[in-house]
Parts: sequence; C-alpha cells; structure tokens
Amino acid sequence: MELRRSQRTNHIIDAVSVLLVLGLLATRGAECRKDRILDSFEYTAVSCRAHSASLTDFGAVGDGVTLNTKAFQAAIDHLSQFASDGGAQLFVPRGRWLTGSFNLTSHFTLYLHKDAVLLASQDVSEWPLIEPLPSYGRGRDAPGGRYISLIFGTNLTDVVITGDNGTIDGQGDLWWQKYRSGQLNYTRPYLIEIMYSDQVQISNLALVNSPSWNVHPVYSSNVIVQGLTITAPVTSPNTDGINPDSSTNVLIEDCYIVSGDDCIAVKSGWDQYGIAFGMPTKGLMIRRLTCISPDSAVIALGSEMSGGIEDVRAEDILAINTESGVRIKTSVGRGGYVKDIYVRRMTMKTMKWVFWMTGNYGSHPDGNFDPNALPAIQGINYGDMVAENVTMAARLEGIAGDPFTGICISNVTIGLAATAKKVQWNCTNIEGITSDVTPQPCELLPDQALTNCAFPTECLPVEAVQIQACSYKRNYLIGYSD
Ligand SMILES: *[C@@H]1O[C@H](CO)[C@@H](O)[C@H](O)[C@H]1NC(C)=O
Ligand SMILES: *[C@@H]1O[C@H](CO)[C@@H](O)[C@H](O)[C@H]1NC(C)=O
Ligand SMILES: *[C@@H]1O[C@H](CO)[C@@H](O)[C@H](O)[C@H]1NC(C)=O
Ligand SMILES: *[C@@H]1O[C@H](CO)[C@@H](O)[C@H](O)[C@H]1NC(C)=O
Ligand SMILES: *[C@@H]1O[C@H](CO)[C@@H](O)[C@H](O)[C@H]1NC(C)=O
Ligand SMILES: *[C@@H]1O[C@H](CO)[C@@H](O)[C@H](O)[C@H]1NC(C)=O
Ligand SMILES: *[C@@H]1O[C@H](CO)[C@@H](O)[C@H](O)[C@H]1NC(C)=O
Repeated sequence: MELRRSQRTNHIIDAVSVLLVLGLLATRGAECRKDRILDSFEYTAVSCRAHSASLTDFGAVGDGVTLNTKAFQAAIDHLSQFASDGGAQLFVPRGRWLTGSFNLTSHFTLYLHKDAVLLASQDVSEWPLIEPLPSYGRGRDAPGGRYISLIFGTNLTDVVITGDNGTIDGQGDLWWQKYRSGQLNYTRPYLIEIMYSDQVQISNLALVNSPSWNVHPVYSSNVIVQGLTITAPVTSPNTDGINPDSSTNVLIEDCYIVSGDDCIAVKSGWDQYGIAFGMPTKGLMIRRLTCISPDSAVIALGSEMSGGIEDVRAEDILAINTESGVRIKTSVGRGGYVKDIYVRRMTMKTMKWVFWMTGNYGSHPDGNFDPNALPAIQGINYGDMVAENVTMAARLEGIAGDPFTGICISNVTIGLAATAKKVQWNCTNIEGITSDVTPQPCELLPDQALTNCAFPTECLPVEAVQIQACSYKRNYLIGYSD
C-alpha cells in the first residue's frame, strides 16, 4: 500500500511536472510562434539570401525622429561580408525610419515591412555630393556635382530592393521649394539610383514625394522593376517615375504612377557628353502600367538620348488625364538615335496629344554642343490604341533636312474632346504610313491598308528571368536583445 501510494504520488507529481513542462513548452512555443509571426515571412525575388539581419540589430529606432543613416550603413557594411557566402538580406520592420543617404552592396536584399516607412532626412548635410554623370557632363538642375540619391548603389551585382509594399518617402517638398526659388547650387537627389550594376530588382514598394526622379537605373543591365506605386503631386517639379538610362535588358511591369513629370522617361545621355560616352538604352519592355501625369508623357523617349535608344516595347498601358502618350523629344546637337520602338494596346482617357514628336526640344547642357550632330529617329510603331476626350490627335515635328522616318500607326481610334482643335494632325518633316486610324491622319502618313504595325514576337532575355520564393527568419546576428 505504502509503496503503491508513494508510487501513485510520484506518478501524480510526474504528471503534474509533465503538465507544467508541457505548459511551459506551450508558452515558449507561443512566444516562438509570436516571434515567427513578427519576423518570418516569404516573398519572391530573383535571388534568395543565406544570411539575414534586422535593422534594429544595428541600433536603429523607428520613431520618425531618430536619424538612422549610420544604422543603415553599419547594417549593410556588416552584411557585405556575406556577398560571396550566399548573400544577405536586411529587414526593415514596422516603424518610421528617418535616414539620410546610404549605399547598397552586392548579393544583397533590402526588404521593407508593409508598415515600414523610410523617411528621407530633411538635413541637406545627410546627402553627400557626388560627381555628375559622365554621359551628362553636369547636373540636370545645376552645373557641377549632385546630391547622392537616398538609396544608392554603384558597381554592384545582384541587388534587390523590395518589400510588402512598404514606403519610401522622399519628403521632397523642401527640395521642390529650393528648386523653384533657384536656391539650389547642386542637382537634387533621386530616390533610388543604381549605377554600373547588373541583376537589379526593385519591386513591391510605395515611393512617395521624391525630391526629383524616383527610380534611376543607369549604365546597368538586367534590371527588373515591378509592382511600384509611385506618387507625387502632379505639380511637383521633375518627379519622373522610372528613368532607364543607358541601360540594357530592362523590364518594367505592373506599376502605378502619378507624377509631376513623365511616368517613364527613357534616356541615354546629353549632347556631346552622351555622344562621347556612347552607351545606349537597348532592350526595354514596359507593360501593365497605369499613368496619370497632366503635364507630361506616359512614356518619354529623351530628351537626353545622345547614346541612342533602341528596341523599346510597351504594351497594355492605361493613361488617365495625361498630356501625351509616347513622346519623342530630341534636338539638333543631340546626335544619337531613337529606333525600333513598338507600342501596342494603350487606352488613353483625357489627353492633350495622343502622339507627339518634338525635334526642337532644345535644353542643351551648355553652348558647346555640335550643331552637326543630328539625331536619327526611325522605326516607330504604334498599334491597337483607343483614346477618348482628346484635344489633338497628333503633333509630329521632325527636323528640317533630318526627317523622322519609318513611322507606322495602325488600328487607332481617337475620340475628341468638346474643345478639340480644328486641325487634328499637324505633321512636318516626318515619313510613314497608317492603317485604320481615326480621325484621318495627315498626308505625310498615307493609309496603306496594312493590317498591323510591327511588334516583336521574341521575348527579351530579362522576361525569362526566374523569380524564386524566398523567406526571411529572424537571425540574432549581433548581440540582439529585446
Ligand atoms: C557611397 O558611394 C558614393 C559614391 O561611390 C561615395 O561617394 C560615398 O562616400 C559612399 N558613402 C558611404 C557612406 O560609403
Ligand atoms: C565602376 O565601374 C565603372 C565602369 O566599369 C568604372 O569606371 C568605375 O571606376 C567603377 N567604380 C568603382 C567605385 O569601382
Ligand atoms: C549656394 O551658393 C551661394 C553662393 O555661394 C550661397 O550663398 C548659398 O547659401 C548656397 N545655397 C545652398 C542651398 O547651399
Ligand atoms: C501600396 O501602397 C500604396 C500607397 O500607400 C497604395 O496606394 C497601394 O494600393 C498599395 N498597393 C498594394 C498592392 O497594396
Ligand atoms: C484594334 O485595337 C483594339 C484596341 O486595342 C483591339 O481591341 C482590336 O482587337 C484591334 N483590332 C485588330 C483588328 O487588331
Ligand atoms: C475631358 O477633358 C477636359 C479637359 O480637356 C476635362 O475638363 C473633362 O473633365 C474631361 N471629360 C471627361 C468626361 O473626362
Ligand atoms: C503645325 O506645326 C508647326 C510647327 O511644326 C507650326 O508652325 C504650325 O503653326 C502648326 N499648325 C497648326 C495648324 O497647328
């Protein structure tokens, strides 16, 4: 009996201990799960990473007031050691993270939580000056140097900036005011600039109020820009959405852009500087874009195009209350070329000009441009478009002695606004053909009863890049305590 009771007691104690331990385990389990819920997630990217860290591991404070420039740079400098060991990702948690400019590294992913906001510092000393772009010879706003972009990368391989639609807020108003009142001694910073880099992905982010251009891949290749929501007041100066510049093999898709300048501006350097640098933008696909830009174009080609722009495709574009559709901007002195451009399936609602080409855009970097450097504009194809509430169908102004050739426009129906111009097509120094276009085009674009203007059937290499399912798990890299 004694023995049995004692055994039973022991059993009871055991059972209680087991329950207690189970209970503790359950609690710990819940804590672990809670941690996991906070700091473990999945996303897609062109490359996944072997190493992870959170911005908070580096002393950052997301209160909207503490300056975190050093934390960002320390985190990225620390993670750069893993570049040749599977790469690293930096997680930016929920919070308002005030920061100045910082530089990215190779084989690296910056990931923003959906409630993370990067707030650009309003302190100009947080924006170091860098050299002007060699293909421009000077800054766009002012001669000489320029402020480095908020997120900057140069000479990188394999870099990803993404998130669950987290926000990067350029707080651009300060810069717009300085620009308007002529107080700038240097060119305004961009929000994201990636130079001389290969394998770049910028995706699933909300970019707001950039000081100037939003996304600027330049001298780069294999660039994917996806799922960006870019917004700025339609009156803000030069807040272009995405500007592929002297870059090859670029894909821009599923973006929504409201801005004070061109939604997309394709570029390749400026006059004698761009001619000397000689680096074209070549192999660009733009698809599923929504654009609102009352004073600018959906897609501008130029005006800086001195290195050449070649093989641009665009399809499934929606424009609302935008000045023009695809606009070519160039000048005597630019040199270079714009050739093999293919655009189809655009829907436009409330436009000033559906088609606009400008051969006398002017805007030279200085007086030393070569007056004999004529741009070559040829092979411009527009098909399957519908527009409504349009003021004027087309304003196509080539250059005397240097006509824009090989223009093809097919299956385009343009509905006119109550205030539409009497003359709907005004064409000078251009050559081409049309088919099934209303209202009736100008005499320089006779109807050839062809079926459709060309559009390439082969995909660009960048369209075949495999997207992978990546995951992030909290990794206590350096003395993290909570
Ligand atoms: C970032 O890169 C630029 C250009 O290479 C350089 O001038 C600047 O010093 C770098 N900033 C840091 C913090 O390393
Ligand atoms: C980046 O690459 C360019 C072009 O190859 C080169 O001219 C430049 O010196 C490189 N810059 C750095 C910081 O390595
Ligand atoms: C620009 O330069 C002028 C003259 O050197 C100077 O007075 C002014 O403070 C500078 N402005 C800024 C914003 O740095
Ligand atoms: C991303 O954020 C922007 C700005 O907050 C919002 O307008 C947009 O709808 C969001 N997109 C997605 C896919 O959640
Ligand atoms: C003409 O364009 C419209 C609008 O994109 C499209 O729905 C239609 O199929 C096109 N017609 C032909 C014959 O391609
Ligand atoms: C048509 O465009 C005019 C501006 O040209 C605008 O005021 C008006 O609201 C537009 N109408 C519709 C139905 O979108
Ligand atoms: C047509 O365009 C030319 C410039 O290329 C301009 O001088 C002329 O006034 C325009 N005509 C009309 C009717 O808009």
